[in-house]
Amino acid sequence: MLRTLLLTGAAGGIGKALRPLLKDIAETVVLSDIEDITELAAHERFHACELSDAAAVRTLVEGVDGIIHLGGISVERPFELILRGNIVGAYNLFEAARNTGRPRIIFASSNHVIGYYRRDQNLDNAVIPRPDTLYGVSKAFGENVASYYADKFGQECLSVRIGSCLPEPANPRMLATWLAVEDFAELCARAFAAPRIGHTIVYGMSANDETWWDNRNAAFLGWQPKHTSAKWRAKVLAAAPPEDPDSREVIFQGGGFVNLDHPG
Ligand SMILES: NC(=O)c1ccc[n+]([C@@H]2O[C@H](COP(=O)([O-])OP(=O)(O)OC[C@H]3O[C@@H](n4cnc5c(N)ncnc54)[C@H](O)[C@@H]3O)[C@@H](O)[C@H]2O)c1
Repeated sequence: MLRTLLLTGAAGGIGKALRPLLKDIAETVVLSDIEDITELAAHERFHACELSDAAAVRTLVEGVDGIIHLGGISVERPFELILRGNIVGAYNLFEAARNTGRPRIIFASSNHVIGYYRRDQNLDNAVIPRPDTLYGVSKAFGENVASYYADKFGQECLSVRIGSCLPEPANPRMLATWLAVEDFAELCARAFAAPRIGHTIVYGMSANDETWWDNRNAAFLGWQPKHTSAKWRAKVLAAAPPEDPDSREVIFQGGGFVNLDHPG
């Protein structure tokens, strides 16, 4: 059990769903975001912080024993926003951690780091990134910062290439990429409890029937996802329009992100 856990991006979709599950991981959870969070449980505190403000991030990280870093831009946006939230923000967070006793970090990376691989390719976590968006590029940057800080300073980090962490899969693609928030919480708990993680990359997916990803190199964590998208398969397929197997969003792992306009 950690004494104090920092959750950045706590006002976002995953943050809201994850919060109730964190009381089993830490005695106190510091929630942070640029958006206000007013309703707090007894074990929670709120600390507003803009991730591009290095001094503010340093104050935020001071005294925490672990970090789940969800904060930042979570979809394709103009580069200036991605630069601030995901590139400067990730650097500030790792730099603050390095200077404050190196609390272990869980970094919310994304499947969009590898979105330009085809769905008929099975990827392990050593593949070279093929980002499908500037957003994916920024997440690859975050993973590289994590790798550099691990090798240079011994700062430990689990980079989780999250698939689709939503209450339930919303389309056929998510039958492969879905991650139940309960499975994500269990992964975080295991990463904090493991004797040593260095910098490890893991794909954030539940025990779905179909998958494009191979998590064998993270097997040492002993993480066994308990949930599966199979429960929603019939509902998802019944509601989905027919797919064109030759369309880019069906060919590539990144789905619709490969068709987004470049925001330049
Ligand atoms: N939801 C998914 O399926 C999914 C998939 C892959 C990766 N991820 C990653 O997981 C994390 C959480 O995802 P989410 O769906 O909850 O996203 P979200 O957009 O709902 O939440 C992100 C939060 O970060 C905050 N934020 C944005 N810019 C900030 C800044 N400059 N400083 C401080 N806070 C800032 C926002 O206010 C927001 O509350 C994100 O990093 C996202 O990229 C999510």
